[in-house]
Amino acid sequence: MSDVPAVSLPHLVARRRAGRMLEAPFYTDPGIFRADLDLIFGRHWIFVGVEPDIAEPGDVMTVNIGDNAILITRDDDGAIHAMHNVCRHRAARLVSTETATVGRLVCPYHAWTYGLDGALLHADHMGDDFDPACHGLRKIHVRSLEGLIFVCLAETPPADFDDMARAVAPYIAPHEVANCKIAHQIDLIEEGNWKLTMENNRECYHCALNHPELTTSIFEYGFGFETDETDPVRVAQRRNYDAMVERSCAAWDRAGFPSTEIGNLDDMVSGYRIGRMPMDRDGESQTLDTRVACRKLLGRATEKRLGDLSFHTQPNSWHHFMSDHIVSFAVLPLGPDRTLLRTKWLVHRDAIEGVDYDLENLIRVWRETNIQDGNLVGLAQAGAASGGYVPGPYSPQTEGQVEQFVNWYIRRMAAGLA
Ligand code: FES
Ligand SMILES: [Fe+2]
Repeated sequence: MSDVPAVSLPHLVARRRAGRMLEAPFYTDPGIFRADLDLIFGRHWIFVGVEPDIAEPGDVMTVNIGDNAILITRDDDGAIHAMHNVCRHRAARLVSTETATVGRLVCPYHAWTYGLDGALLHADHMGDDFDPACHGLRKIHVRSLEGLIFVCLAETPPADFDDMARAVAPYIAPHEVANCKIAHQIDLIEEGNWKLTMENNRECYHCALNHPELTTSIFEYGFGFETDETDPVRVAQRRNYDAMVERSCAAWDRAGFPSTEIGNLDDMVSGYRIGRMPMDRDGESQTLDTRVACRKLLGRATEKRLGDLSFHTQPNSWHHFMSDHIVSFAVLPLGPDRTLLRTKWLVHRDAIEGVDYDLENLIRVWRETNIQDGNLVGLAQAGAASGGYVPGPYSPQTEGQVEQFVNWYIRRMAAGLA
């Protein structure tokens, strides 16, 4: 059920109760969904892909953020550009496939021809008064953060992206994203609001019950799991985990892999969190046997046991960097109750399938985990959209980052509505 909210969006934003889920219209209402696209996805840095998506000059990728069809290109000098995928003549979509390799962008309608930087190079029969310089493709801000591509549809993007980029670049750089190839991609449509997809990602309260594959290698403590002070067993486990993190991070730091957790997911406009966590079972990677999935290690890695560098950005991404592969997730809203989760598995660009890695072994953990998560998001959506819903409380011990996500969302909506 999706009713027009009885109260206005500014009022709903203002009366949000801390420590709880949002009221139902935030998950169901088409008007609030439009506001999310405008105020959140239209005004912040949105993760859309990785440099290996456009590895070579002439490579083009397309992505949709709400109603915005976007082209991302690599030009002959290697520079990356983003622009609207809308011809400046009579609006035709220029590239309809997800990827392409072209010398120029030629419109299929009347052959207006654009360079890879969006400049209009050629248009027949437009008369003497026509100025091609005024009819280039409309540009969109784009940044590569050590190989992770973000775009911002706003005229003036949030400036603190630079602060975030400066802070996280030393963590990501040693994995050398640009020297990877995409071994596999899966687009999963979840039957839920994008915020439920994000909320689900920001806790591991549900992991032990739902993720048999993932919990082979992952510690639930690594995802904002606070100790229950009343339970001596958990207190001891947490203490051991903290000591292990400290030891591991010190060793990784010395080896040139910054690891100590930093970030601000709550009140920073370009909210983020990054930190490296050890793996359970003395593991090497997020695989079923916890051993590396790919024999060719990434970038500057010489050691298989580099833990899991986990990078989260508001509002729409998370990434796991290991010694041998990277898994990267983009959340793209499709409707009030439909969300695209796009997952890419990256390995060293020289790695050969069947020789250096087995694809099934590489993708199995997160393919299964995503399906499990998608089902959970669908269940939460069904509940949030039904009559008996009242916003439930987040666990102060395990759902701190969910609360931070919702705090961030509410702050950014309030700022956008002001
Ligand atoms: S619509 Fe693109 S050339 Fe006419
Ligand atoms: Fe999950």
